[in-house]
Amino acid sequence: MSDTPKKMFVKSFGCQMNVYDAQRMVDVLSPEGYMETDNQADADLVVLNTCHIREKAVEKVYSDLGRLRKIKHARGEDGKDTMVVVAGCVAQAEGKEIVRRAGMVDLVVGPQSYHRLPELVKQAQAKPGVVDTEFPLEDKFAHLPAASRQRTLARGPSAFLTVQEGCDKFCTFCVVPYTRGSETSRGAGQLLAEAKRLAEDGVRELTLLGQNVNAYHGGGLDGKTWNLARLLEALANIDGIERLRYTTSHPRDMDEELMAAHRDMPQLMPYLHLPVQSGSDRILNAMNRQHTRMDYLQLIAKIRSYQPDLAVSGDFIVGFPGETEADFRDTLNVIENVGYASAFSFKYSPRPGTPAADMRNQVAEEVKAERLARLQALLEEQRQAFNTSCIGRTFDILLDRPGRSEGQLGGRSPYLQAVHVDAPHLKVGDIVSVKVTGKSTNSLVGELAGALLLSPAPEAHIMEASA
Ligand code: SAH
Ligand code: SF4
Ligand code: F3S
Repeated sequence: MSDTPKKMFVKSFGCQMNVYDAQRMVDVLSPEGYMETDNQADADLVVLNTCHIREKAVEKVYSDLGRLRKIKHARGEDGKDTMVVVAGCVAQAEGKEIVRRAGMVDLVVGPQSYHRLPELVKQAQAKPGVVDTEFPLEDKFAHLPAASRQRTLARGPSAFLTVQEGCDKFCTFCVVPYTRGSETSRGAGQLLAEAKRLAEDGVRELTLLGQNVNAYHGGGLDGKTWNLARLLEALANIDGIERLRYTTSHPRDMDEELMAAHRDMPQLMPYLHLPVQSGSDRILNAMNRQHTRMDYLQLIAKIRSYQPDLAVSGDFIVGFPGETEADFRDTLNVIENVGYASAFSFKYSPRPGTPAADMRNQVAEEVKAERLARLQALLEEQRQAFNTSCIGRTFDILLDRPGRSEGQLGGRSPYLQAVHVDAPHLKVGDIVSVKVTGKSTNSLVGELAGALLLSPAPEAHIMEASA
């Protein structure tokens, strides 16, 4: 360990897995003497943990690099070095091209090699311009040190846990199989150990992450292969783990055991993010989604037969090559059929190297914009109706963050809606019964209803209601 503490700043773009990876990058560099800072200008090492999913996400990275060049230059004039690291999916997709385009980048590291950061940082200190975008054979996770208790406490009582990574589905629009590699699942033993440690350090809610999380098939404790339902069951048995979520699922991997888990496991929150992308069979086929519109609708009906009280969320792409007005209406029709509590929707963005980018029947930008506006209007209407239907209901809420005003704390409803509640005498980490009394555009407002249900260990009380 070096004796002068150095500061690192990590900025994550894209999905929740990048947020998890960013935390692990801090964990792996902390034994090298790096402390995390939230002030970019003060950092000796800056990591941009990037996303390649849509063109706009990539543009953001290059514009950030432009800003960073100025900071690096200004710090240089004060005699301070700034190491610039590009990690994540743009790093994987562009590799050396990043160093060519932005010469001030010292190190490019892909999502499968960041456990090597200590060594790579040293190499880049000796000679800038290091690129590591290998898919190494060794298990990245086995080489990452656990988060310290202090860092886990600071990250709060709701934590991410990557259980599955990569994708073999090759939807024709998507870069993920190229940037994250093929589908792998972490072993249950490793995951349970990580989860136990998080629980001991104050974590009450785990969100299991994977590009195809419901395709999880990791080695179980009994030597057999476990599916996601089996893994969830084992995680639910850990002392302190009160609630479980998982994202993102693929319709083809939704098995009945997982549906039954939504009925049988009180810790499993009644929320399912199950992207359909399009409601048109022709487009679903061109997307290589490997399911039809009817498959999806029947699946939703079946899951709801196990757990009727389920908030469904999804992802939608409008303007995929060849999408006609009739195809688009099929998508609106699926939305009307399902009724979404929340959703993410995007204009199709051609990604270099993916099959759809080379399809000739690309949809005009204005058409995409117009369809997206219509689709989002419908989804927003459904979201607001769902939020309104929650007024008057009482939920157990894990308070996981300071609120927006003094004495207020924030948390998530079982359906993942943000909830704010005045609770001056409570702490982050408490689980309380909250009656929803109203809503604003993006969140619910509630009041305490009844006793404190669960309070964390005293030393976990590090984030107070905002002052
Ligand atoms: N693994 C997840 C998706 C990860 S990407 C899954 O299979 O559902 C998150 C979302 O980004 C996708 O669901 C899709 O809606 C959107 N997306 C991916 N590639 C895109 C592209 N080329 N253009 C527009 N949206 C895209
Ligand atoms: Fe991308 Fe499709 Fe894989 Fe999801 S299932 S990560 S959309 S290729
Ligand atoms: Fe983006 Fe990579 Fe996640 S492309 S959405 S950061 S898997």
